[in-house]
Amino acid sequence: MHISDSNLVAAMTALGVEVRPGVSLAKETSLGIGGTSDFLVIHRHDALPELVGLLRGARVPYRFLGGGTNVLLPDGELPWVVLQLARQDPDVRFDGNYVDVDCAADLGRMVTTCAKHDLGGMEGLIGVPGTVGGALRMNAGAYGTQIGTHVREVKVYRGATGQIEILRGAQINFEYRHTSFAPDDIMLAVRLELPSKPYREILDGIRICNEKRRASQPLNQRSAGCIFKNPPGGSAGRMIDELGLKGYSVGDARVSDRHANFFVNAGNATAKDMLSLIEYVRGRVRERYGVELEEEVIVWKEP
Ligand code: EPU
Repeated sequence: MHISDSNLVAAMTALGVEVRPGVSLAKETSLGIGGTSDFLVIHRHDALPELVGLLRGARVPYRFLGGGTNVLLPDGELPWVVLQLARQDPDVRFDGNYVDVDCAADLGRMVTTCAKHDLGGMEGLIGVPGTVGGALRMNAGAYGTQIGTHVREVKVYRGATGQIEILRGAQINFEYRHTSFAPDDIMLAVRLELPSKPYREILDGIRICNEKRRASQPLNQRSAGCIFKNPPGGSAGRMIDELGLKGYSVGDARVSDRHANFFVNAGNATAKDMLSLIEYVRGRVRERYGVELEEEVIVWKEP
């Protein structure tokens, strides 16, 4: 979507929003898939209510993009402008066992920064790519850690009220790869409470998780992590593997040879290729196991 109204662009710029026209979004995602759109970078959290007010007033549809590591964007010209938070500096602040983190912060870097302050508990999240906000939205987890466990407060822009609110951890539901945030909520900052742990011990934990991840996941290929959630008590990766689908491709969208729940962009895959592959694999799993796999990756669908 392109904003051609110069008054609107000027009003957004006055709010400190950086307007980048015609951005190739494939470059903004770990899958390397996605068309083009105007890209709006938000430098001040408190500009969001006014910015959204301007976009709604001008009937310009928008979507918010975090780190782009767990999404599948459509091909061609997108029917939305894309909003993203700029990184703040510093983006992690310490207050005893509490840590205030900006949601645009890189998740892995946040984990290591906390480790240097002898704060642990998040070792499992070290290799999960993306931003802290993205991890919060889906309650990212790995190797026994889920970010939700440590959340004490979230500063969030609520699409429903158009206001920035502070939610206490207890007001948010954190489940397996799911939270109670609304789709149009935008997480801005989070206060975590982390257990004290010596730096060396945290580093050992991080090393073990890294080794496990390297052994089982295709880290050097373009992917969005696991495509499907695991069904209750089961493993999507194991089922897809048992069906002999490792290496199965639609165009350049391919089931990883290393981990069958990772679908990789092996060249110039399109969203159409990836969606066809997702549907094909889902159908095969349904047919063989009677299980309906649910996507973990967030698919931006046309309205
Ligand atoms: N397996 C196979 N073949 C495969 C893949 C897995 O047989 O191709 C088997 C493994 O041998 C193992 C079982 O399936 O016995 C489970 O595999 P794994 O330990 O890799 O865990 P997973 O359930 O596939 C989950 C998360 C990952 C997370 C790891 C480690 C989901 C959907 N995936 O994977 O998270 O990193 O555990 O905790 O919950 C993600 O969310 O994007 C993600 C990668």
